Amino acid sequence: MPLETIAWPSWPQYGHEEKEAVARVINSNQLFAAKEVATFENEYARYLGARFACGLGNATQGLHLALAAVGVGAGDEVVVPAYSWISSASCTLMQNAVPVFCDLEGESLGLDPVALEAAITEQTKAIVVTHMFGYPAKIHEIVEVATRHRIALVEDASHVHGASVEGQCLGTFGDISVFSMHQRKSLSVGDGGVLCTDDAEIFESVRRLRSFGHHELSYNYRMTEFAAALGRAGLRRLDAENEIRISNAKLLRDLLSDDEVLRVRDVRVGERGVYYAALLDVMVDFPDIDQRLLTLQQSGLPIRKTWSLLHKHPHFNPVSPPARGLPWENPTYQRSHKHVPYAEQVMPAAEYYCPDRILELYVHPPAGEKEIEAAVRNLKSVFRG
Ligand SMILES: Cc1ncc(COP(=O)(O)O)c(C=O)c1O
Repeated sequence: MPLETIAWPSWPQYGHEEKEAVARVINSNQLFAAKEVATFENEYARYLGARFACGLGNATQGLHLALAAVGVGAGDEVVVPAYSWISSASCTLMQNAVPVFCDLEGESLGLDPVALEAAITEQTKAIVVTHMFGYPAKIHEIVEVATRHRIALVEDASHVHGASVEGQCLGTFGDISVFSMHQRKSLSVGDGGVLCTDDAEIFESVRRLRSFGHHELSYNYRMTEFAAALGRAGLRRLDAENEIRISNAKLLRDLLSDDEVLRVRDVRVGERGVYYAALLDVMVDFPDIDQRLLTLQQSGLPIRKTWSLLHKHPHFNPVSPPARGLPWENPTYQRSHKHVPYAEQVMPAAEYYCPDRILELYVHPPAGEKEIEAAVRNLKSVFRG
C-alpha cells in the first residue's frame, strides 16, 4: 500500500514577533553585542534559574570556552560522550587536551555513570555530559561522581531548553552549561548559543574569553544583537512550544504502545523531557533500514537514523596528523590509560544502539494530532516486518 503524503510543518516558524525584533535592532543602529544581548542574558538566566548567562555565537564556542574557563589544557583529559554531536568532544581538541570517550547508558542515552567512574584518571580535568534530544541524562549520579572526584562538570544542554529533573532545570546541575540556539533547536535564532553558570569566577573568565580579553589568548565569540532579539522572542514561546512537543511525543508513544517493532522512548519519573526529537527504538534488525527510512522521508516524515559514534570520527582518527598536532601524542601528556586507537575502543552500549537502532522523529510545533496519527500509519506500514 502506498504511503500517505504528510504535509509536515517545518521548524522553525518565525512570525511577527521575530520581524518586530529584527526591526528593533535595525532601528537601534547597534548590531553587535549590546543591550539586546544583555537583556537576553538576564531573561535566559532567570528562566533557567542560573545566576549568570553569557550569550555567544553558537554552542560550539560555548563548549570551548567552558573548558578554557575551568583550566583544561595540554596534558589534561576530558571525559566526553561517545554518542553526541561532534562539538561535545572536539572542544577538547580546541584546548589541546585529550578526549576520553565514555559509553552511554541505555535508558536516556546519556553518559553511563559507571563507565564514567572507570574513565576517570589523575589527569581528568573535566567531564562533558550531553542530554540527548531532550531526554535528561542520569544527572544526579553524574554530579555525584564529578563532585566526589572534584572534577568540573559541563552540561551540553543544546537539546534541552526547558527540560528539568525534579523541578530543577537541566543546565543548572553542573558547573557550567551550554545551550545551542542553532536554527533547528527548540530556541532558534539561526546561529547562537548561551552559556550558564552560578560561579562568578567562571562567568568573568568566560566574558573575557568571549570578547578579546586583554591579558590572555581570547576570542571573538560574541552573540549579535539580532540573535539576542530573536532569542528573547523565542523564549517567550518556549514553554508553550515544549508542551506541544511533549503531547506529540505522548500521543506517538500511546499509538505505538503495542507495536512489536517500534518503541517510543519516555523519560523517567520526576523528569520533564522536552523532545527536541522523539526517539524510537527499532526492536527488530532490518538490513534495509536505510531504504525504509527513505520511503518514510519521501512521504514527508522528518525521521532519520541517529548519529554515528564520535570515537570513530576522523577528528580523533586522522589519516595524517593535523598541523596543530595530536594532544595524545604530545610529550606533556603522561597517559594513565594504555592508549588504544580511538576507532578500536569498544563502547558496547553505544555500539548496540547507534546508529541503527535509534530513530529521531521531529515532533516540533505546529505539528499536532493530525500529523502524529498520519506518522503512525506510515511507520506501521513501513516497519511491518
Ligand atoms: C548536542 C549538541 N552539542 C553542541 C552542538 C553545537 O551547536 P552549535 O551549532 O550551536 O555550535 C549541537 C548542534 O547540533 C548539538 O546537537
